[in-house]
Amino acid sequence: MTSACWWQTDVIYQIYPRSFLDRNGDGIGDLRGIAARLDYLVDLGVGAIWISPIFASPMADFGYDISDYNSIDPLFGTMADFDALMKAAHDRDLKVILDFVPNHTSDQHPWFQQSRASRDNPRRDWYIWRNPAQPGVAPNNWLSEFGGSAWEFDGLTGQYYYHAFHTRQPDLNWRNPAVRSAMHEVLRFWLRKGVDGFRVDVIWHLVKDDQYRDNPINPQFRLGDPPNRRLVPLYTTDRPEVHDLIAAMRRVIDEFDDRVLIGEIYLPIERLIAYYGRDLSGVHLPFNFSLIGARWQAQSIAKLIDEYEAALPPGGWPNWVLGNHDRPRIASRVGPDQARVAAMLLLTLRGTPTIYYGDEIGMQQVPIPPEQIRDPLEKNVPGRGLGRDGARTPLQWDGGKFAGFATVAPWLPVAANYAQQNIAEQIRNPGSIYRLYRRLLALRREQPALRRGSYRPISANGDLLLYTREFEGDRIFVVLNLGSEPTAVALPAESRAGRLLVSTFGDRDRELVREIIDIRGNEGVVVELSKQAVDALPD
Ligand code: NOJ
Repeated sequence: MTSACWWQTDVIYQIYPRSFLDRNGDGIGDLRGIAARLDYLVDLGVGAIWISPIFASPMADFGYDISDYNSIDPLFGTMADFDALMKAAHDRDLKVILDFVPNHTSDQHPWFQQSRASRDNPRRDWYIWRNPAQPGVAPNNWLSEFGGSAWEFDGLTGQYYYHAFHTRQPDLNWRNPAVRSAMHEVLRFWLRKGVDGFRVDVIWHLVKDDQYRDNPINPQFRLGDPPNRRLVPLYTTDRPEVHDLIAAMRRVIDEFDDRVLIGEIYLPIERLIAYYGRDLSGVHLPFNFSLIGARWQAQSIAKLIDEYEAALPPGGWPNWVLGNHDRPRIASRVGPDQARVAAMLLLTLRGTPTIYYGDEIGMQQVPIPPEQIRDPLEKNVPGRGLGRDGARTPLQWDGGKFAGFATVAPWLPVAANYAQQNIAEQIRNPGSIYRLYRRLLALRREQPALRRGSYRPISANGDLLLYTREFEGDRIFVVLNLGSEPTAVALPAESRAGRLLVSTFGDRDRELVREIIDIRGNEGVVVELSKQAVDALPD
């Protein structure tokens, strides 16, 4: 690889806008809040921000139900605020990625209002309408991700409409060319404004079986699983036709220079990689969520990295995600010590990393009292641990009231320990996880081997995960101890010495190592390898 694109070398930071920073005093984050903290992000060392939806919305699913694709919801600000944010970001060399939600609109979108008005409305076929199988019975067995049937009966016209998620999120009919061109125009609207790309919501859902066949029963379903897992979503997701739709979307992106298309896709690796498309005509980055669900065990993680690396198509660029607004926080899944090891893993693997806001200070799941639950998924399917509010709480900026996030009570509770765990405190504390993130991000910028180098696993036992990254003769050795017992690790063959660049404990910078490195429990280290003996290394 001679030159790399920004989306290959930069690190992406996901902002959940409701919870980043409130500047207009309503307890909900907004665009001016984001603009006010761009310097924080530059200083942290990320190169791109992805902002979850900021468009006009009744907020039935907190912005993933859009009623006007080309306007900013007043909760978040105005178009002028958006333009100012874009300019401020680009002035700082930060890229801006927006969320694109093509699978469904809000039921308040004028398109749906027209579509539901009568069977012969010109917009009828913009959504998916079907007759009852028999009076009072849904057209088939398809289930909603948010619980219950995916079909909602509309008395006015006597038909059902399909919604993969909330009843207030009717699915668009992507088989209709008019829908496709309208949505392409939405992309162009924002691309002309200079946005650097899109994260495309549930892209693998986009097209459904045109024969409306029943989904088969899932033999692996267990009591306590989300109810829609009762069926295998064979006819509702990952249909072969989706790849042509994505290639067409990609052609729109390619009308503009240097933009990126990222797909949200929860599929096993072998099906995920199909989203790079034939001859890489699909999304640039099909989000790789394999670490999000992974058992935190060295050998299983080593295996999933190997499988992913092996499955990538020629020229397909990898990417890694540890957390997002739909899944429990990494620090709660693996504990605060391993959250540091996870950070080192995320930022030293080959491929584009995405950091979820707040993970850089080790934010944990916040327990949500029943009366403060906001998530429609938790409200529809209560008590199964599906609630997403706990991972969406206000960012803890400082030890002041409401953690410096807002001046009034925020829309979701602030973590109880915010006085100790916050950005201001962690910036001051050299041993904080924030300082580790910042150091690792700086290291990626300094070391081409980390940004662009090859990945080579080194087999290990027990709790150790070992690999090297190499670029034009520079070699980096990564040692991650996923357990709590101390251990010792030999340098890889051909290396007699090295210099430790960073430890997850933040206390071993520039330590020289010869042949063997002592590793503490829960420690990860990054070592720059040398072919020389340690005595020959410069100080
Ligand atoms: C995926 C989004 O990440 C999630 O938050 C949302 O509820 C669904 N898509 C439906 O839009």
